[in-house]
Amino acid sequence: MALRADTERHSAKPRKTAGGFHQSWYAIACSDEVRAGRVIGRDFLDGRAIVYRGDSGRPVVMSAFCRHLGADLSIGEVIGDEIRCAFHHWQYGADGVCTKIPASDKIPKAARLFKFPTAEKWGLIWAFNGERPLFDVPDFPNFAESALDYRTDEAFDLPVEPWVPFTNSMDFQHLRILHGLKIECDPERIEVGDYRIEYDVRFEDPKLGIFDQSIRVTGTNTIALAGRLNGMNILSMATGTPTPDGRTHGWSVTATPRAEGNESEREQRMQIGHAFFSRLIEEDEPIMKTIRMREGLLIDADRALARFFQYVKRFPTARPAARFA
Ligand code: FES
Ligand SMILES: [Fe+2]
Repeated sequence: MALRADTERHSAKPRKTAGGFHQSWYAIACSDEVRAGRVIGRDFLDGRAIVYRGDSGRPVVMSAFCRHLGADLSIGEVIGDEIRCAFHHWQYGADGVCTKIPASDKIPKAARLFKFPTAEKWGLIWAFNGERPLFDVPDFPNFAESALDYRTDEAFDLPVEPWVPFTNSMDFQHLRILHGLKIECDPERIEVGDYRIEYDVRFEDPKLGIFDQSIRVTGTNTIALAGRLNGMNILSMATGTPTPDGRTHGWSVTATPRAEGNESEREQRMQIGHAFFSRLIEEDEPIMKTIRMREGLLIDADRALARFFQYVKRFPTARPAARFA
């Protein structure tokens, strides 16, 4: 699989969603990349963000550049629950507001960073692209995080916007042709909400057999599948995050219920789930690395896909961190 290190560029210029980026939850780092008292920097959306954990252990995601002269705070220092700039020691609280300027007792009002709504789930730290979250962090259908064993991996890096690979979720032609799945799904039974899409589907995989799936798309950049294969519950999630070069960096989560089977059975289920999902990603990758995705000539067999395009088009966009860059 291609990871972040695979920087092979595609010659086509990526198109940017009008009005910024979809207002969605984006994974920005793995939980174990950010230990308490540490800060890291990430290229994110069309700018940069810092991710840190203070003494409280709670992760914080904020715009990366100091409001004084623009030093990158990812080379600053975590002090308690605050972040201190390396250059002149301006210090910012976890809400982004500057709390201390060593050279002055007056703190300008504008001395604040953009604080992204931040959450931690599925072994990932998530930031919402907006002032306030419009919906919850992505979940699996039918299972709470506490009920699952799961594993989180970096999974893909593609030269497209995040919504593009997730057209896959409702592109039934490609599930049959590219992935060789037999699939039964009435497009009219797909529930398309404002921020989430849900449906049940039966895949028949040539090797694995019948795989009954409850599928949930959250935002335009995360898909979660809760599947049942030969009596086993196997769950998989993929999520994509936009980076400034117009690419999408993706993670996957593979899970199985903690209460079912012994440890080696659960491990085996996770390996099956991971292999199934990896196969789909690997088969999609050559297409997604070269596509100039557009809503082209759709036919009757694309009815579900057409609904996905409509959903993406009306999804709210924003770029609230831009003025803090
Ligand atoms: S640039 Fe950060 S304190 Fe001066
Ligand atoms: Fe696919």
